[in-house]
Amino acid sequence: MINSFKFGSVVDDPFFTNRVEELAKVKQILESNNHLVMISPRRFGKTSLIRKTVKNLKRDVLSLDLQLVSGVEDFAAQYLKRIYRIFPSEKIKHLIKNFRIIPSLSLNPINNEVDISFKATESTLPLLEDVLNLLEQLCNSKHRAIVILDEFQEVMRLEKGFDKKLRSIMQFHKNINYVFLGSQESMMREIFEKKKSPFYHFGLFFQLQKIEKSHFKIFLTTGLKNICKQPEKLADEILLFTDGHPYYTQQLAYTVWNNVNQKASQIHAVKNAIEETIQTHDLDYERLWNTFNKTDKKTIIGLSQGNHLPLSQSGLNKNNSVATSTIFSSLKRLMQNGYVIKTNKGYEIDDPFFNSWTIKRREL
Ligand SMILES: Nc1ncnc2c1ncn2[C@@H]1O[C@H](COP(=O)(O)OP(=O)(O)OP(=O)(O)O)[C@@H](O)[C@H]1O
Ligand SMILES: [Mg+2]
Repeated sequence: MINSFKFGSVVDDPFFTNRVEELAKVKQILESNNHLVMISPRRFGKTSLIRKTVKNLKRDVLSLDLQLVSGVEDFAAQYLKRIYRIFPSEKIKHLIKNFRIIPSLSLNPINNEVDISFKATESTLPLLEDVLNLLEQLCNSKHRAIVILDEFQEVMRLEKGFDKKLRSIMQFHKNINYVFLGSQESMMREIFEKKKSPFYHFGLFFQLQKIEKSHFKIFLTTGLKNICKQPEKLADEILLFTDGHPYYTQQLAYTVWNNVNQKASQIHAVKNAIEETIQTHDLDYERLWNTFNKTDKKTIIGLSQGNHLPLSQSGLNKNNSVATSTIFSSLKRLMQNGYVIKTNKGYEIDDPFFNSWTIKRREL
């Protein structure tokens, strides 16, 4: 028997659950002439959701992760390489002749793909214009493409003014829906919500939440029912701990499934799987803890004790020795690094296992 749960990489059926409303909403935007901006903390399922949506649309899709790009020339080269994956090279070759900066192309004999590079250049605007406009030219109103730019907040790190250049080109495109994904909420909001930003209100904003617990429960129960008699009970216990965080729920369910399948006790299956996971990460958590300054430690302790609104009056009372501005900048820092997330509950520690580790460690 194969484990019913998967975590870490992009998921599709049978590991993908629910998101019915989200899929419909994203599809609706992509079938209009608008662009989409999707944000969520890390590992909430952005890439899985967008991949699943476009899979059923029968459209040409170009997907590029900005985290893996080393500079603007590389961005242009990677973009062009992906255009080659979609369109026949004969058609592209003839258009590339008009490029102001000619790329060097070579056929990679291992995967039969074209490897592309551009020499470093003083002014990257013509380069970007030529490459981005090429896709627009190759499409038309009946044959519209979708371009997914993952971890888009990286745009701010690649080159000063890169965002301005991209927007100046993209704004004229009629045959492409752009999808901007990002996991650093504050940076994404700076890019798309700040009036002075070039990308201000460029696309429809969509904040992806955790997976609704009642839906997740059905998925967990189905996946656990082959190996145990009380799958619903285990599903409830898993969700009580993970609160529907897509990644951590799948991770915990995976371990529970494995242990129960190996004939471990079902009564303490979830509790034991939690302990096992915390134990495995003990050293990482300790290292992480030691990177925090004093205020961050206080903030994390408060959050682990259920103080989800540290900036409210009651939250501040619990933390009476620390100034509001200090707590605020600590939360901001912890959020930028992905350790703390903001949900409809307020602030919380992203990783429920780390949350539990913090509590346990302090009880020793
Ligand atoms: N619809 C879903 N159903 C079940 N599990 C899911 C779903 N979406 C995501 N997950 C779980 O979350 C994990 C992370 O998903 P994914 O890589 O799509 O998230 P992401 O938001 O793109 O993450 P990152 O910020 O790291 O790019 C998956 O490996 C899977 O375990
Ligand atoms: Mg992703």
